Amino acid sequence: MALILAIESSCDETSVAITKDGKLLSNVVSTQIEVHRKYGGVMPEIASRLHAENIGVVLKEAVEQANIRLEDVDAFAVTRGPGLIGALHVGLQCAKTLAMLYKKPLIPVHHLTGHIYANEYIEPLQFPLLAVVVSGGNSELVIMEESMKFKVIGETRDDAIGECYDKVARVLGLPYPGGLPIDQLAKEGEHTYDLPVPLKGEHTYDLSYSGLKTNIINLVHNLEQKGEKVNVPNMCRSFQDVAVGLVVDRAIKAVNEYKVKQVILAGGVSANSYLRSEIKREMEKRNIKIIIPPMWCCTDQAAMIAKVAEHLYDMKVFAPLSIGVDPNWFIEDYKNFE
Ligand code: KG4
Repeated sequence: MALILAIESSCDETSVAITKDGKLLSNVVSTQIEVHRKYGGVMPEIASRLHAENIGVVLKEAVEQANIRLEDVDAFAVTRGPGLIGALHVGLQCAKTLAMLYKKPLIPVHHLTGHIYANEYIEPLQFPLLAVVVSGGNSELVIMEESMKFKVIGETRDDAIGECYDKVARVLGLPYPGGLPIDQLAKEGEHTYDLPVPLKGEHTYDLSYSGLKTNIINLVHNLEQKGEKVNVPNMCRSFQDVAVGLVVDRAIKAVNEYKVKQVILAGGVSANSYLRSEIKREMEKRNIKIIIPPMWCCTDQAAMIAKVAEHLYDMKVFAPLSIGVDPNWFIEDYKNFE
């Protein structure tokens, strides 16, 4: 184990975390959500600029809170992808500079491995496991036969589930990010709208959300043209039942086929109350252990990047200073820096 400093800047959170021998010493997060809310989504150019403005302060605060000296850090880790290209560059340049200055290894980390390994702060992972990765930019079902070995068995064919929540929220006039308001309103509503279940009848672990999104957008516009009002809580409930139902259905099929010991939720959408309760209920019925991450683990932060970096440090997965970001990095290629 070692003293690790990790940086996360893949989307709209600037974060620096420090861990020593697996223990989290600091995890400072500066979120840009308020700025992007005005635009109804993340504006990539603004995100990059704000990361550049904030990273120095976040770094300083993380070092002060952890009460360490930068020269004692054993390795500098950073999210290399997936994410917004300009945003990723800010974190990578900062990590490269630190690695060069202090002559320490540079560890590039795949963002989604971070969401998965965030669960190690809660309890040890048990293999084989199924990771249900649901976030604003990705939706994947990942089987891990052993630690740091990822096999994607299903992924979205189009939009990510979080992106779909955000777009549906926008057409319903709800604030960005749309996940939480939809989740809350769904509790007050009933399933009254007949929405299409994506990829119905197909034997696949893949997911798909663009058809569902388009269907709701058209439905809302048609109702508006007829001068009728959408029942927002009912629409939220109908949408959430279908969107989350799809993920839970795939997870049930996967645990049956892959005989996993554990299921973990990962990513921003794992904050969803209906997903959390449904997956828990279904897995407990099947005597499969489930880790439901606490809220601080669901959102983007560098503690999760540091957790993966500890494993990569032991595996000596280090990168040269010439490395670039990879906005579309595939999780199975997490050791490949080409
Ligand atoms: O993991 P994350 O920060 O994004 C990426 O790294 O891609 O997740 C953000 C996403 C947003 O789309 C947001 O609407 C969604 O997570 N989200 C939720 C909830 N809270 C956040 N979606 C559904 N229900 C929630 N309670």
